[in-house]
Amino acid sequence: MDKEKIIVTSALPYANGPIHLGHLSGAYLPADIYVRYKRLIGSNIIFICGSDEHGVPITITADKEGITPKEVIDRFHNINKQAFEQFGMSFDIYSRTSLPIHHETSKEFFLNFYNQGILNEKKSLQFYDEKAKMFLPDRYVEGTCPNCGNEQARSDECENCGALYDPADLKNPKSKITGQTPVLKETSHYFFPLGKYQSRLEEYVAQMSKKYGWKDNVLQYCRGWFKDGLQDRAITRDLDWGVQVPLDDAQGKVLYVWFEAVLGYISATKELSRIKGDENLWKKYWQDTNTKYVAFIGKDNIVFHTIIFPSMLMAWNDANTDKYVLPQNVPANEFLNFEGKKFSKSRNWGIDVIDFLKLFPADPLRYCLAANLPENRDTDFYWKEFQSRNNGELADILGNFVNRTFTFVHKHFDGKVPEKGELKPIDQEILNLLSGYPKKVSDLFEKYKIKDGVAEIMNLARAGNKYFNDSEPWKSVKSDKEQCATTINLSLQIIYTLAEMFYPVIPFSAEKLFKMLNAAPTDWFKSGEANLKAGHVLNKAEILFTKIEDSVIEKQMSQLGSTSETPQETEKFEEITIDDFLKVQLRTAEIVSAEKVAKSDKLLKLKVNLGFEQRQIIAGIGKSFQPEDLVGKKVIMVANLKPAKLMGLESQGMILAVEGSDGKLSLLQVDGSIKPGTRAR
Ligand code: MF3
Ligand code: ZN
Repeated sequence: MDKEKIIVTSALPYANGPIHLGHLSGAYLPADIYVRYKRLIGSNIIFICGSDEHGVPITITADKEGITPKEVIDRFHNINKQAFEQFGMSFDIYSRTSLPIHHETSKEFFLNFYNQGILNEKKSLQFYDEKAKMFLPDRYVEGTCPNCGNEQARSDECENCGALYDPADLKNPKSKITGQTPVLKETSHYFFPLGKYQSRLEEYVAQMSKKYGWKDNVLQYCRGWFKDGLQDRAITRDLDWGVQVPLDDAQGKVLYVWFEAVLGYISATKELSRIKGDENLWKKYWQDTNTKYVAFIGKDNIVFHTIIFPSMLMAWNDANTDKYVLPQNVPANEFLNFEGKKFSKSRNWGIDVIDFLKLFPADPLRYCLAANLPENRDTDFYWKEFQSRNNGELADILGNFVNRTFTFVHKHFDGKVPEKGELKPIDQEILNLLSGYPKKVSDLFEKYKIKDGVAEIMNLARAGNKYFNDSEPWKSVKSDKEQCATTINLSLQIIYTLAEMFYPVIPFSAEKLFKMLNAAPTDWFKSGEANLKAGHVLNKAEILFTKIEDSVIEKQMSQLGSTSETPQETEKFEEITIDDFLKVQLRTAEIVSAEKVAKSDKLLKLKVNLGFEQRQIIAGIGKSFQPEDLVGKKVIMVANLKPAKLMGLESQGMILAVEGSDGKLSLLQVDGSIKPGTRAR
């Protein structure tokens, strides 16, 4: 059988703020688990994401902060890219829609539609804020919905009832920028004739959902739209930030952000092709009818992925020989709330991913979110649940089972997989359970029932732990060594299976498990069989999970909702003596030269003068400083740190810096008059 060829995309997050846990649960973690699982079973898959860098909110943030939109997107693109990396998102590319390749791709689609003659140019009345001197985008007008009476409806769309209407029908409009009542003013825009595609879209949704089992929430949502009837949609806006409309008479107009953002999946894949030096790579995926395309999103993005993007691809495909694949499935999730309420920056409710990962490793977060995905309804993140899933499940069940088994095998079997003997019913039972597992879990993952799959995997760890307990190897090691060997052998087979099945969910810990097992992932489906051979040498156990103390969780909970900038909590430190402190040789050092380390944007190679000698230091400060700005600075370094190798280069010490809340580093410096080598104490 040919390898399954798959494109997986996760919604492109706006580069207008840091992503929080809710985003992860919606469109990112489930996609990553799915992709990692598919890679394990050998699918030919690409995983695409990137920043959505246009749209009005970005210009508003820029105005508020007195910086340019470009500065806004650069900041959040980098923060979010890094957060995703630390969280273990295994994107093949994390691109951005400000790249020229994206602008070209979007213009190409627009022009294609324009040249086909399918776009309608229409004059329309739009809200105009006379004080701010700008046309107000939908979201910056608030009024009362003519359909349901919701008082926070947008200019042409109500989030409460889903109605779309003419801006002139909105009651009591107010500009969200100045608070003034806006006027309706004429402007001209291009419209995409969505209505023309309605019957084909209905057929597409019906067919795909029947064949591939679309989720109920997604299907219901689409049906609602079809029932109301699809209307022409304006695909241009009066703005100066975005992809310019590629027509001479369209000065000051850009493409509507959603029109081009969805095309970001394609342009990001083109960027990936460029990076890989395989110009046609993107076509091999996007323009091959055998490709299965799955788009992971949150529920607020459904219409764009099941109706608008497909209609654009249909319009393209009608007029071109190179035809794009349409989404085969759009497994949209509901929302994750935080401790019973919506995430809110202004009310300090929730936590950003980048901050979370400063406090805890990624795997416990991945596991906790995965166990609680809002697949069928909104769910909540609770700090207490995070603690109990970490302590009670990861540490006490999985960690404990692994730890006991490894301790035993090193103590009694010389660190090698013991040969199993005759199977008793208890052994046969666990083997039967084990061999059914890969199929059980993969069936769930194939249906995007990630949460259920994860629960099943933990059940296997639970069963393994119980098997170990009930078999009492600490007794049989004295009375029946063969039976004991069987218990340990089977426990190790279970751990191997767990490592593979948990790999998509908690990849960092699974990697440790593979290392301990001295084994690589094998074929997912075969791993259900006992395939660690007798005599196979195992490595020492590593700590997989650390328990989280109540005080740590309580501290997080107490910070919620408080809006003070820097929480002034007293921290608990472990005390050291003055002698402990004096072991550290803190010395003044003058930076003599600084250069970038090849292939690293973080590391700088410094030469420093310590007075009595020169040292080479490889410092992870490249994101905060330009090399040339460092020369001549007098800093404090740890002069008696054991040398270490970083990217093959020896680092002979460490210079001290502190990190600001924006992630920028600041060096500890001394007056120019202090001589290099002077001790700090
Ligand atoms: N930026 C949008 C959001 O965060 C998602 C865009 S998805 C794409 O809701 F398909 F348009 F890229
Ligand atoms: Zn409404």
